[in-house]
Amino acid sequence: MDAAKEIAEYERAALAAIAAAADAEALEAARVEFLGKKKGRLKNLQKLLGQVSAEERPVLGQKFNDVKTRVTAALEARRAELDRPAAAVEGIDVTLPGKPLRLGKRHPLTQTIGEFKSIMARLGFSVVDGPEIEDEKHNFEALNISAIHPARDPLDNFYLATAESRSGGPLLLRSQTSTVQIRVMENTPPPVRIVSLGRVYRPDTIDATHSCMFHQMEGLWIAEGVTLADLKTVLRLFATSYLGDDVTIRFRPSFFPFTEPSVEVDMHWGDDWMEIGGAGMVDPNVLRSVGYDPEQVTGFAFGLGIERFCMRRHGITDIRRFYENDVRFLQQF
Ligand code: DAH
Repeated sequence: MDAAKEIAEYERAALAAIAAAADAEALEAARVEFLGKKKGRLKNLQKLLGQVSAEERPVLGQKFNDVKTRVTAALEARRAELDRPAAAVEGIDVTLPGKPLRLGKRHPLTQTIGEFKSIMARLGFSVVDGPEIEDEKHNFEALNISAIHPARDPLDNFYLATAESRSGGPLLLRSQTSTVQIRVMENTPPPVRIVSLGRVYRPDTIDATHSCMFHQMEGLWIAEGVTLADLKTVLRLFATSYLGDDVTIRFRPSFFPFTEPSVEVDMHWGDDWMEIGGAGMVDPNVLRSVGYDPEQVTGFAFGLGIERFCMRRHGITDIRRFYENDVRFLQQF
């Protein structure tokens, strides 16, 4: 065969293969085939050159070297092209700074609830959940809240217009987490030592300190010989753990239908007293309503507002900030 033709054919095929190489792997295959030192097509051409006549050799030799240079250059150029990121090829400047990904965070109330749970777990309380849609038995009756008590005013509760419980009574959004005390005691013989954290609903006018939905932590400890002193200790250890400073707890006499005696709980932290919730010794009527024997066991219950603690610790002055979903607020926690 004509050596000159062979050289030309080699160049055509090599340049085509290099141009067609879509990635580094394909390009490497083309390099091995056309420029490989051991047995590539270049090697075959060289052997052919060895067979041509002495007159032809200088011309063909020069041609061979030129082709080899061109093919090598084409290979280098294609390699550089493939090394460049694809986006740059499409005209986007990939060296510009990227758009930062915004990392999500837990909502401050979710963080607070998590902390409360772990503090109470360290104090020996297990965490339970209860339904947010309740019947009157669990929201009122078993809690000793009689039919004429003002807390049962339909205007002070979110009754669900059409829904009825399995027992036939009306349903409402729970107005307090005290419902969970009943649900736990109905299903568990004493002793019980639980907390339950979650949403409660009241048709309050919304302002800086009121919301129609907020969160409570309910606590309940029933066993032999549990006293009001235990309640005070638990609340002080809890508040001290959360706020990281020694907190003083104060009880003021109060009334709740489901506790006797009942107290309002205040805490002293920083320079002020602040009301944090209600508590008391569980009323014997409540214990009886769930089949416990008030002669055998006693215990305390408490209900704390979760928002208040979080607001106090972080210096938040408006409860509405929690529910507006404004990332400028949320990303600070
Ligand atoms: N459930 C009451 C409320 O929402 C708070 C409360 C008071 C809870 C006394 C208790 C308690 O467990 O013993 O206002």
